[in-house]
Amino acid sequence: MLDTMMKLFFAVLPYVALMTFFLGTIYRYRARTFSYSSLSSQFLENRQQFWGSVPFHYGILFVLAGHIVGFLVPRSILWWNSVPLRLYILETSAFIGGLCALTGIIILMYRRLTNSKVAKVTSPMDWIVLAMLAAQIGTGLYTAIFHNWGSSWYSASLVPYLWSIATFSPDTAAVMVMPWAVKFHIWGAFALIALFPFTRLVHILVIPNPYLWRKPQVVIWNWDRHTIRQRDY
Ligand code: HEM
Repeated sequence: MLDTMMKLFFAVLPYVALMTFFLGTIYRYRARTFSYSSLSSQFLENRQQFWGSVPFHYGILFVLAGHIVGFLVPRSILWWNSVPLRLYILETSAFIGGLCALTGIIILMYRRLTNSKVAKVTSPMDWIVLAMLAAQIGTGLYTAIFHNWGSSWYSASLVPYLWSIATFSPDTAAVMVMPWAVKFHIWGAFALIALFPFTRLVHILVIPNPYLWRKPQVVIWNWDRHTIRQRDY
């Protein structure tokens, strides 16, 4: 019974998540274009924002880039890992990236909890996203510590599973025998993908690249002060 349910989860949940992601992001972009951002709270508090946001973003982007490279060229990862020193370098770098992301998100959560101005503009959905991201980073780091050399078995066993999903022929055999932490890590990833269109994570799709070179400018919110806390995302 549990086995059948889990199989169903690994074979069906990814499609539900991806459908929600695509339909939700397209609908929100068309219906509420101007909500496509992550409202800045930098002018309310700058120091903790800097020490949280910078390590979080560098760490998570580095780790996710690693996941994507493994997904695209798993054989090259296995080749790289065939020399122990190279495996240690890869695993240690990914782990440091994960630690940066964890440190950053803890600071960001602490900031939203303790700074009264920032707390006022934090919606329930902001908390759900922060908690889910923290849990995702937590299960990732737990996996790295207790189920060693993940970059190799990810490339050999999980990447074929992900490709089986991508090619509409789900094969759950490899994930079914994974430890619980890994199972939760994968479900967590699909849950985040499903929730994506309803959260401030949509800013990932509209990264304003000119931010990198344009002059600084003052950002002023044009929202009703009484309804800002009740905004739906
Ligand atoms: C929202 C998406 C995801 C996020 C934010 C995320 C985040 C992380 C983090 C922070 C780590 C720890 C850093 C490290 O040592 O590598 C990690 C490790 C890991 N993740 Fe993910 N992950 C995501 C999706 C996935 C998916 C979909 C899979 C597989 C199907 C996966 C498989 C793994 C594995 C196997 C490790 C251990 C790597 C190692 O020990 O070298 N992750 N993840």
